[in-house]
Amino acid sequence: MDSIKYERGKLLLLDQTQLPIRIDYIECNDYICVADAIRTMKVRGAPAIGVAAAYGLVLAALEYQHLNKNDFLRKMEEAIMVLKQTRPTAVNLFWALDRLAKVLQKDLPVENLVDQMEKEAISIQEEDLAMNIKMGEYGKELIPYGATVLTHCNAGALATAGYGTALGVIRAAFKDGRIKMVFVDETRPLLQGARLTAFELMEEKVPVTLITDNMAAFFMQQDKIHCVLVGADRIAANGDVANKIGTYGLAVLARFHKIPFYVAAPQSTFDLSLNTGKDIPIEQRNPDEVRKIGQIWTAPKEVNVVNPAFDVTPHELVTAIITDKGIIKPDYSQNIKRLFS
Ligand code: MRU
Repeated sequence: MDSIKYERGKLLLLDQTQLPIRIDYIECNDYICVADAIRTMKVRGAPAIGVAAAYGLVLAALEYQHLNKNDFLRKMEEAIMVLKQTRPTAVNLFWALDRLAKVLQKDLPVENLVDQMEKEAISIQEEDLAMNIKMGEYGKELIPYGATVLTHCNAGALATAGYGTALGVIRAAFKDGRIKMVFVDETRPLLQGARLTAFELMEEKVPVTLITDNMAAFFMQQDKIHCVLVGADRIAANGDVANKIGTYGLAVLARFHKIPFYVAAPQSTFDLSLNTGKDIPIEQRNPDEVRKIGQIWTAPKEVNVVNPAFDVTPHELVTAIITDKGIIKPDYSQNIKRLFS
């Protein structure tokens, strides 16, 4: 199931807020619609946000292609700003828009710029799928035969251009006969684990057990989990990893129980401009996401709430980072620099 489908002037986004109950695509014909879909998490997951934003800018380019070059470039700047303001943590959003902004610097007529932007957005989508497949091939070697793997949130086909990062590794390892069971955290408040990961894995006939977020320690203590495998929204130069809230807790638990903790992420998720994870902006979301489950109030309507959407796992707790260029192990600062130079 594709989360993002593009044809000239039209972007179809699988509405992930409706899954797994309804499979509905929304159609965007302008960038404001795409920005809104990212903000409201109809499309979500770091690489998918990047791909959607790139196509969002292409829609803006098509909308304003009749303008003279200066006015066109001004409109593009405006659209980039709006798209960049949607969600702050996943660096893939900024990375994808910066790739298109580079195209805009070319000394070409508007018509050619539009065509090249469209080509670049298509490449971003195609490259993401290819990177996920590579991560699967590298990462599966880390999974022992007969393993039970715990994952958090959704780092699958839905969160990417297809196949998935952490779930890509799980898919490849399952095909290889290595996976006996995947434990999936519900992932409150928005339940990406329950609604999306459980759904994706069941579609693929991978054995899944859904648990609530507070059960992981119990199963680790009983030796039921052999490794933890998650995706990432931004990785700093020293290997600190921002991912869905709750990931840090799992890493601490994994260390205590001597279970390997793996992160799978493509090149587009690394932010080498940040020395450490302390500088990664953490998105704060609407408190009602915590006061409710779906449309149902589960807390007093006026109760005070904080709702950070991500946390940062210090690199000391990460056993290895699986990338499309290979597997990175400590010393992360040195090895990340070496891999990406
Ligand atoms: O808030 P979300 O659903 O966009 O958060 C997604 C995650 O945290 C994923 O684990 C991460 O983006 C990796 S996706 C391949």
